[in-house]
Amino acid sequence: MEKSRSSFSGKIGFVMAAAGSAVGLGNIWRFPYLAAKYGGGMFLLVYIIIAVTFGFTLMTAEIALGRKTGLSVIGAYKKLNKKYAFIGWLSALVPVLIFSYYCVIGGWILKYFAVSASNNVREATNDTFFTNFISQIGEPIFWFALFLALTSLIVLLGVQKGIERASKVIMPALIVLSVIITIFVVTREGALEGVLYYITPNLKDFNANTVLAAMGQLFYSMSLAMGIMVTYGSYMKRSVDLEKSVKQIEIFDIAIAFVAGLMIVPSVFIFSGGDTAALSAGPSLMFITMPKVFNEMWMGGFVSALFFLLVFFAALTSAVSLMETVVSIISDKLKIGRNTICVIVFVFSLIIGIPCSLGFGAWDFVNIMGMTILDFFDFISNNILMPIVAFLTCIFVGYVIKPKTLIDEVKLSSKFKREKLFTIVIKYVAPFCILAILATSILDVLGVLHL
Ligand code: PHE
Repeated sequence: MEKSRSSFSGKIGFVMAAAGSAVGLGNIWRFPYLAAKYGGGMFLLVYIIIAVTFGFTLMTAEIALGRKTGLSVIGAYKKLNKKYAFIGWLSALVPVLIFSYYCVIGGWILKYFAVSASNNVREATNDTFFTNFISQIGEPIFWFALFLALTSLIVLLGVQKGIERASKVIMPALIVLSVIITIFVVTREGALEGVLYYITPNLKDFNANTVLAAMGQLFYSMSLAMGIMVTYGSYMKRSVDLEKSVKQIEIFDIAIAFVAGLMIVPSVFIFSGGDTAALSAGPSLMFITMPKVFNEMWMGGFVSALFFLLVFFAALTSAVSLMETVVSIISDKLKIGRNTICVIVFVFSLIIGIPCSLGFGAWDFVNIMGMTILDFFDFISNNILMPIVAFLTCIFVGYVIKPKTLIDEVKLSSKFKREKLFTIVIKYVAPFCILAILATSILDVLGVLHL
């Protein structure tokens, strides 16, 4: 007997869960430094334009694919055209690759939360604190396992009782925390200059790289091309307005990214006396610079704890969506219970995540194309697999099953206001843009381009 598929209870449940997936490390840590690097307000403007055209189209396509077929990513492509099942397989690889290392980073965040909450943020201001921590064997693995266990617990509880319920608490909490921290930061002395630096459009910095960087960021930030939105779409009821839901997820995602910039850019500005070099420091921005910034602030330990709690919430709901995607793929394929699958995915991710964690210390001799194990997984999934999957999805929807198949699905729940835009973008615009992203990633790693 066919078991009936789980579903989100309604629109709010769906939007909160999907926004929970979209809002993650990408919004809080990556967006602010990209915006600071690529022209401030100009980057924001470009990002918004791309989000409501390109992002809207791809997200609508993925959710509609899931809802139409009622299947997770492998089954979804196969059901619509057997010959193209391989796109589903390729997409399934992405969350499998990302999940473990995402939880390793989640573990680092938990550690920083614990350090801040126990009022020891001063310890973390030492330049070597971060590298000392991640190069150990036991401690980072402990925090990684804890983060993974928390994620698994939510997934184990199921779509409505676990994911939806957790998202409905975490997402509003995330907004409240963001507002509190932002108000605190922008009212510090000297913050205004940083705010202006962040939001003033700088035409000089506007070029093709800005657009490509914004597009790459959008993909990651909206959790596209990794099977997540297809899976969540398969849990969406036909009565829920799909177009409006996508709009709300986008607003959520953009708003949190923007606000994260308002917290981080002015803080760094005040701390460094206007020197913006620290903003583009990659991972060390969050784990090395931010503790120093907090340490200098009034009530710094408390603000730091709130900040890492915010980052933890954001990362947790993203990790949940990754794990659910993997679980649903297995559950569609094999006739085994959800609990067993969760245990299998937990153990498997533990086994994959440990080398990622060790790659910063005991196993730092493992070097793939000049990258640590974690960076290599990140590179393969984000820079290579995701653009390929997104490109193939556009071709699949635009030319194989034809946009009308999904447009009809959207229209089951409402009018489709942006129907024309959807068709044009998926057939003619997105495939070329995505190829450009793929080409730049490849040239970049070959050392031809230095973006
Ligand atoms: N969208 C998330 C972010 O912006 C990233 C993410 C990656 C989510 C992988 C799920 C899976 O950080």
